[in-house]
Amino acid sequence: MAAEVILEVRDLVKHFPLTTGIVFKKQIGAIKAVDGVSFDLHKGETLGIVGESGCGKSTLAKVLMALERPTSGSVKIKGREIAHARGGELKAMRRNIQMVMQDPYTSLNPRMTVGDIIGEPYDIHTEVAPKGDRRKRVQELLELVGLNPDHINRYPHQFSGGQRQRIGIARGLALQPEIIVCDEPVSALDVSIQAQVINLLEKLQNELGLAYIFIAHDLSVVRHISDRVGVMYLGKMVELGKDVEIYDKPAHPYTQALLSAVPVPDPEGREQRERIILQGDPPSPANPPSGCRFRTRCWKAQEICAEQEPLLQIRPGTAHESACHFAETHDVVHVN
Ligand SMILES: Nc1ncnc2c1ncn2[C@@H]1O[C@H](COP(=O)(O)OP(=O)(O)OP(=O)(O)O)[C@@H](O)[C@H]1O
Ligand code: SF4
Ligand SMILES: [Mg+2]
Repeated sequence: MAAEVILEVRDLVKHFPLTTGIVFKKQIGAIKAVDGVSFDLHKGETLGIVGESGCGKSTLAKVLMALERPTSGSVKIKGREIAHARGGELKAMRRNIQMVMQDPYTSLNPRMTVGDIIGEPYDIHTEVAPKGDRRKRVQELLELVGLNPDHINRYPHQFSGGQRQRIGIARGLALQPEIIVCDEPVSALDVSIQAQVINLLEKLQNELGLAYIFIAHDLSVVRHISDRVGVMYLGKMVELGKDVEIYDKPAHPYTQALLSAVPVPDPEGREQRERIILQGDPPSPANPPSGCRFRTRCWKAQEICAEQEPLLQIRPGTAHESACHFAETHDVVHVN
């Protein structure tokens, strides 16, 4: 892809210490929430991230936003390292990467007006909107996300779920970032409202040239909005490629299993498709299996899978990266 790399993530690791004892805390291990993740995000593109609960998606988002410090690895925004930035430099870089949270019901302070919620980032970044300009700016943002600018003095409870998520998006846009990390932005909304919010995100991307990291459980939502998709399993990225590649020709057994579980509306398509049922739950991220982390649930596992970690790379016969010793594309039947 010719577009500029706006976010570069290399070997990113985030371990949370696992301690015992109340007074004298002793570290007995670590939760390997994110364990060596690398990818690029290009200007104006959407990278979808999918994976089961607990695989490290939100932790990855927090480290990218510098809300959590990484254990090791690198996150560069436009070539500058955010993970080690401090003070004024960190503040300036944070302006360029903003977040839209999952739950529009709890992420907005019920005691603040929408004007104050959306304009709050200007308290820290006074250079973006001097005091006298704030109201006008917030009204413009309300209009941009499809809300009535006259409702600036209303409180969150006076809006529906979809409208509240629009408020969350307006707040994310307040500092004119180039990157927005959306962590399950529509999971808490009704299906009919989800489509409206996704359409709004796409419209804003086209108008403002935004790059999105779009995290979700729902594979069909991710497909709709993403240019590329990354699949995470137990702190690792196991497959990464263009959306058509991942959805139509997945090469990693885990992705194949995830896709086989996506409901197919048409009975004919259902018959044509093989459903792969994964056995058991993912192992604990405090004690992941040796070699390939997916091996305890993989029907293709062999001895080498326990001994050698498969790296994320383009494998023979495939056109995108996957982390499996026996990667093999598998045509998926989609019925629209
Ligand atoms: N602050 C923390 N301290 C200790 N462990 C944590 C912390 N935050 C997350 N974890 C653990 O790290 C792992 C990854 O969690 P994370 O929230 O990133 O997963 P997720 O993929 O976002 O899950 P979900 O889909 O449920 O939102 C989990 O085992 C979680 O319990
Ligand atoms: S490396 Fe082995 S265990 Fe891992 S996904 Fe591939 S076949 Fe399965
Ligand atoms: Mg999460």
